[in-house]
Amino acid sequence: MPPTILVIHGPNLNMLGRREPQIYGTTTLADIDAALLDRGAAAGVNVVCIQSNHEGELVDAIQAHGWDTLGIIINPGALTHYGLSLRDALAMLSAPIIEVHLSNVYQREAFRHTSVIAPIARGQITGLGWRGYLLALEWLLAERLTANGTTQG
Ligand code: DQA
Repeated sequence: MPPTILVIHGPNLNMLGRREPQIYGTTTLADIDAALLDRGAAAGVNVVCIQSNHEGELVDAIQAHGWDTLGIIINPGALTHYGLSLRDALAMLSAPIIEVHLSNVYQREAFRHTSVIAPIARGQITGLGWRGYLLALEWLLAERLTANGTTQG
């Protein structure tokens, strides 16, 4: 079984492409997932992508698929700012968690400046559009090589 990286998209991210394109861009979620799967396959990693508009479904997915992963890439959408059961589910895992936002949340409304996920995340990428997901994936792939002793970090 190839190692797995779990990618989690929260509420409303299924609307990418149509949703406020001036903020979130015109790239669809299917495009993002395809790019992540391609990059993962080239590196011999199985990328599993999940989207839900329901916090409990995301918790279920993390409980089911989160344990044996190299890492988690998550854009929690608005749950970033208040999703405490999502945070608690992620906090159970030992793999590194990268929080990704398409928009720069710190340039936007004040309620977006607080993340309940950030304190348990290894790092955060915000404002770099869809490429932020690929940057997160590159970091996890590089970390894996370092952990295997095949490169220096
Ligand atoms: C978002 C930022 C959040 O504040 C917002 O609720 C989203 C998307 C982003 O990717 O920029 O749904 O996570």
